[in-house]
Amino acid sequence: MTTLILNRNDVHTGNLILVNAKYPIKSESNIGIISADENHSNILMELGARTAMSHILSDMNCIDEIVLVSGYRSNEEQEQIYAKSLSESGRVFTEKYVALPQCSEHQTGYAIDLGLKKDVIDFIRPNFPYDGICDKFRKRAPKYGFIERYQSGKEAITGIAHEPWHFRFVGYPHSEIMTTKGLSFEEYIEDIKQYPYDGEHLEIIRGKRTIEIFYAPILLYKQIKLNMPENCLYQVSGNNVDGFIITLWRQEE
Ligand code: DAL
Ligand code: ZN
Repeated sequence: MTTLILNRNDVHTGNLILVNAKYPIKSESNIGIISADENHSNILMELGARTAMSHILSDMNCIDEIVLVSGYRSNEEQEQIYAKSLSESGRVFTEKYVALPQCSEHQTGYAIDLGLKKDVIDFIRPNFPYDGICDKFRKRAPKYGFIERYQSGKEAITGIAHEPWHFRFVGYPHSEIMTTKGLSFEEYIEDIKQYPYDGEHLEIIRGKRTIEIFYAPILLYKQIKLNMPENCLYQVSGNNVDGFIITLWRQEE
């Protein structure tokens, strides 16, 4: 056994942090963000999200067809976008399509807006239709750790209108589970709590590997310690709400 030590502040970091109007971003300082690629040097993303995005774009050979429109935004940038939208498009539109500063996933580095390449691209609502190359991308995205974050029918849960262009990196296999179960990110964060550290874990088999997922609440502790099996790859993320999601990749026998 090996011991995993998790601190209260860590609840607010990792690729599974839920960021919305109810759960604002808490820590921006320790995000590792870099340019998306040489064609999009002004677009920044978190390193893991960026790597996954580069892979999907090159595997699909669609770098000339799909444009990265907006990635990481600082709080100041989100404030400017919000204010500009309010003055140009009004409150009803802005509340539907622009998250409040501190409540935008773009401030995590894990979100990306994509557009079909055209001479003129709408920055707030880029065209990313449900056909052609865009839909091929959308269907493949979960294999690379991305979800279409603001789906039609989930507006009351996400607090944001349907946004076919906004993708969020949550990591594989979470992306695939959410997509298969038809869950919004908000719903997934709740759903995963039925698999606690000290109970039955969610177990999925992919090829020769078994992946285990479970939830560990921070409760009132400053720090929690979890016993983890040896010889496993594991990933830990806070949920930005009340605990951690641990993903364990068991090695082949
Ligand atoms: N358009 C999304 C909701 C944002 O502003 O973060
Ligand atoms: Zn977006």
